[in-house]
Amino acid sequence: MSKAIEIRNYCYKYSDSTVALKDINLSVEHGERVVLIGANGAGKSTLLLAMGGFVKGEGEIIIDGVELKRKNLKKIRTVIGSCLENPDDQLFMPTLFDDIAFGPMNMGCDADEVKKRVEQALATVGLGSMGHKAGHHLSAGQKRAAALATILSMSPSVITLDEPDGSLDPRNRNNITALLKGLEQTLIIATCNMNFAAAIADRAVLIDDGCIAADGVAEEILYDRELMVGYGLEVPGGSG
Ligand SMILES: Nc1ncnc2c1ncn2[C@@H]1O[C@H](COP(=O)(O)OP(=O)(O)OP(=O)(O)O)[C@@H](O)[C@H]1O
Ligand SMILES: [Mg+2]
Repeated sequence: MSKAIEIRNYCYKYSDSTVALKDINLSVEHGERVVLIGANGAGKSTLLLAMGGFVKGEGEIIIDGVELKRKNLKKIRTVIGSCLENPDDQLFMPTLFDDIAFGPMNMGCDADEVKKRVEQALATVGLGSMGHKAGHHLSAGQKRAAALATILSMSPSVITLDEPDGSLDPRNRNNITALLKGLEQTLIIATCNMNFAAAIADRAVLIDDGCIAADGVAEEILYDRELMVGYGLEVPGGSG
């Protein structure tokens, strides 16, 4: 059986010559919940963008057996869903229902199937009664949940999330933690909040200056004070 994610010798350079990722090798099994941690500018978001096919570098990325290549992009969108850092980037239709229907419609689902998928996705994220609302009329926490629903409606096997805990109050952070823990998909989550990381992950990958500096059991990495402080991070347990 193919891995959820297989990345081999991946490098990415932005057009201004910033080298954001250097020889990344990462293999993720189905069902793993992985946090990407690392200082600001380490390369977490770029790695998520690369997995989703939003930027194209050198090396190999294979998602659930599908090689990330231009000719496979449509297929890739059905196996990996990317929640971007800013949920507003994923909520652009007149209503939430339309936003969530967008993916299944592009996949060629018929109207009944689209409706079923939208209702299921809304219910899963706890927004069952909000389908008629416009995305830009939701609260920050609701927008995060809605952006996730636009991904869930396509039933991908891998979901990436870029700082899904960003700008959430503790209750909403707990809500999104519980929601994510209830999903069966493989999750790759970038976060700067080590309490959130500890609550959600079974594996942690520490990125530093475009390289993987540590990769292992979340509890072992996150609570290794010397390692964490050495890379400008902190161990869980603070107020964050
Ligand atoms: N569009 C861009 N053009 C040029 N350089 C970029 C661009 N986006 C990011 N970078 C650079 O690439 C590197 C990695 O950035 P990235 O956004 O992946 O870091 P990050 O780990 O997600 O940081 P943060 O914790 O602040 O979100 C940084 O040096 C950053 O300045
Ligand atoms: Mg980032």
